Amino acid sequence: MKVLVTGGLGFIGSHTVVELQNEGFEVVIIDNLSNSSENVLDGIVAITGKKPIFEKMDLRDKPAVEDFFKRHADVSGVIHFAASKAVGESVENPLLYYENNINTLVYILQQLQQKPEAHFIFSSSCTVYGEADKMPITEDASVKPAVSPYGNTKQIGEEIINEVCKVSNINSILLRYFNPIGAHPTAHIGELPIGVPQNLIPFITQTGIGLREQLSVYGDDYPTPDGTCIRDYIHVVDLAKAHVVALQRLLAKKNLEKVEVFNLGTGTGSSVLEVINTFEKVSGKKLPYKIVGRREGDIISAYASTDKANEVLGWKAQSTLEEALTYAWKWEQKIRS
Ligand code: UD1
Repeated sequence: MKVLVTGGLGFIGSHTVVELQNEGFEVVIIDNLSNSSENVLDGIVAITGKKPIFEKMDLRDKPAVEDFFKRHADVSGVIHFAASKAVGESVENPLLYYENNINTLVYILQQLQQKPEAHFIFSSSCTVYGEADKMPITEDASVKPAVSPYGNTKQIGEEIINEVCKVSNINSILLRYFNPIGAHPTAHIGELPIGVPQNLIPFITQTGIGLREQLSVYGDDYPTPDGTCIRDYIHVVDLAKAHVVALQRLLAKKNLEKVEVFNLGTGTGSSVLEVINTFEKVSGKKLPYKIVGRREGDIISAYASTDKANEVLGWKAQSTLEEALTYAWKWEQKIRS
């Protein structure tokens, strides 16, 4: 079966391509290489022994999208990762985010709507919950007003999919990711942040390797046990596997609703200081850091209830924070060697 993976050379996309190929799917990747590199294909081949089809394309090019679906009429499922994801950039350039994350979604759904049946997996985010009222966060928690255009594109994306699936033959699963981290255990693929990383783990590994002087910990006066923010860090390979399970669920018509929503997390919250301590343990390095003021827009705590994903989807994260950080560190060492 042929699956289209948009953004398939990105961090989560590339790991998902590996797991799809491991499960016997034929994969076609569309990627515009805006935040990835064609070399990632070599990493995928090194792990799976198989080269996916790759088309360099920008999904904002509507005629190109139409042409793609004509040429690949046998695509039986779409996993849609391609999107911009930097919160700060989205505040500075909202229209880029609406064009890149929303227009592209519309163009793909327009194509899928013409098919007798279609299966669509969407990358959503725990950012839709904002500062949730209770922990762990269940899928029925209310969606809070977005604090950034990036977050808003995830909310609007979910709404568009809900409305379109109601009146079409498209079935969809929305996957709300908590904090994806790590790299493939083989160190053939991993995260490749452009410029100074905004996310915690790549900043930590780059500091560990000596590329950054020290980590700034954004605030230690939050109402948490050690005063730093709490997140649910999930290993990217676990996350990738969830996409395969979700697609198989749709293909086997096991979905109970036209649009289903699942949290993808580990169910365990870790504070920034706990992450630093765990990194120091796995790397054997002392991490230089200083406590600075809070970062605007940060929420205090977010970790997933995994009950629905465990029981309904039949998927559970396997890796611990320690394992995920071990792989992230192995990857950082490999790319700098
Ligand atoms: C961030 C985005 C979120 C997006 C996700 C994508 C913000 C406010 N949120 O989530 O919308 O979906 O990335 O991956 O940008 N931290 C430090 N020092 C650093 C970096 C981070 O102390 O140099 C802390 C943060 O305050 C936070 C935790 O580490 O408590 C995790 O931060 P990060 O990796 O940026 O993820 P989120 O903020 O959860």
